[in-house]
Amino acid sequence: MGYTNLAGYKLISFDKIPSTQDHAHELVVSGNAVDRTAVWALAQSAGRGRHRRAWVSHHGNLYVSFIYKIPERDPRLSYAIGVAVAETIASFGIHPTIKWPNDILVDGKKIAGVLIEYAGPFVIVGIGINVMSNPTVTGYKTTKMDVYAADVPLRELLTRLMRNMDKWMRADFGRVRVRWTELAAMLNKKVKYQGEIAELIGINDNGALVLRHDTRYMLVYGDEITV
Ligand code: BTN
Repeated sequence: MGYTNLAGYKLISFDKIPSTQDHAHELVVSGNAVDRTAVWALAQSAGRGRHRRAWVSHHGNLYVSFIYKIPERDPRLSYAIGVAVAETIASFGIHPTIKWPNDILVDGKKIAGVLIEYAGPFVIVGIGINVMSNPTVTGYKTTKMDVYAADVPLRELLTRLMRNMDKWMRADFGRVRVRWTELAAMLNKKVKYQGEIAELIGINDNGALVLRHDTRYMLVYGDEITV
C-alpha cells in the first residue's frame, strides 16, 4: 500500500485488494475518508459491478474508487461522471459513446463501467476502464483501449481521469447536459421502461431522463430503464 498525492487527490494505491470500492466504504465507515481521495488498485480479487455483478479485474486495467464529500444526493452527478470518463478515453484518440446511465462504449462494446454509491456525506465513485484486457461477459460485448490506442500508461490515464472528474463535476449542468447528449448512444432510440417501449428524448435540467411514449412524456430518475 502507498500514500501519495496526484493531481490534488490523496491517492492510496495497492497492487491487489479485494475491491477499491469496498476499501473506500471502509474509509468512510472508520471515519478516515476525506474529500477527493482516490483508492487505486492494479488488480482486484472481488471487483464489483452494478446489479451485484462481478467486475473481472486482472492486472493491466484501471480500477479506481473516488471519494467526494457532497452536500446531498444529486442525480445530475451521474452524467458529469459519464462525460468525465468518456472524455478521458477520448483524450487518447478513441471515440466513445455513453450508454445510459453511464456505461462507456466504443464501437458498441463496453470499455468502461461506473458504480456510484452514497455513504453518509460522501459519494463513492468506482470506475473500471478496460485497457489491456476485456472480459467475456454474457449479454453484451466488451472491448479495451489497447485495440485503439498504442500506449496507455495507467498513471497517465488516472491523472487525466482525475482532471476530467474535477472539470465535469464542477461544470455548470447545462454544459454537462450538452456534452452528455452529444456522446449519448441511445438518443432517439427505443428503450423499455416499466414494460413499455418508449423513445429516449434526453435529460432535463434536474438530471431526469426524459422518455416519450406516443404523446406522453415520462421522467425517470435512477437506473430503471432497460435498453
Ligand atoms: C459496472 O457494472 O459497469 C460498474 C463497474 C465498476 C467497476 C469498478 S473497478 C473499481 C471499483 N471497484 C469495484 O469493486 N468496482 C468498481
